[in-house]
Amino acid sequence: MNTRLNVITLDGPAGVGKSTLARLLAERLSIACLDTGAMFRCLALRLGPGTEKLPEKDIRRRCAEVRFSLDGRGKATKLYCDGTPVGEEIRNENVGLLAARIAVIPAVRELLKKAQRDIGKAAPLVAEGRDMGIAVFPDARFKFFLDAAPEIRAKRRLADLEQRGETVNLSALTEQIRNRDHMDRSRALAPLRPAADALLVDTSRMDIDETLNLMLRHIREQR
Ligand code: DC
Repeated sequence: MNTRLNVITLDGPAGVGKSTLARLLAERLSIACLDTGAMFRCLALRLGPGTEKLPEKDIRRRCAEVRFSLDGRGKATKLYCDGTPVGEEIRNENVGLLAARIAVIPAVRELLKKAQRDIGKAAPLVAEGRDMGIAVFPDARFKFFLDAAPEIRAKRRLADLEQRGETVNLSALTEQIRNRDHMDRSRALAPLRPAADALLVDTSRMDIDETLNLMLRHIREQR
């Protein structure tokens, strides 16, 4: 199957709205949606804190035991880890930070890249993450890179977490987002940056609907 026709990549920093937009875009196009941050979060929970200090061969062995799969389309897409649906347990900043820590380990990125490509070969996909357009699906037909100021992303994430019943402090959240931006952008391996052929979208002053419509328009125009 030709990935160039079948994968749409959506990259950007933490809290920019990628997951929501990827699901909405996938729903409108009636294709599956892959949240690759969820794969890193899930693996981080599996491997536990301090993984980065383990010998490479142990990390490789433990990573190789984990299997990811995807089922369904649009908003109903479900990610599975070893046959179990990935749930809300991965959605907090501590797991996000653990995920950013294991994201610098070559064996982890290698295993997840292969799993993501295998999923991309099986079905048309919106793939969202940090390195989809550059490293995982360089041949994707449509590529987007979303960005927004850290303060704005922190406010969005706060609203999101509050909706889930979590109490979080805005300045602490802004600090965590800046910290994660630094880790994601400065790592040697697959750092966060836009692919040369990605459409850059600054969502600081755009809501979800405006951003979604802009993306759909771009896809229609390029088709
Ligand atoms: O998108 P997220 O917040 O769920 O991602 C959690 C962390 O996982 C992020 O800080 C870095 C890592 N990640 C990555 O390195 N590459 C991806 N494609 C997706 C996530």
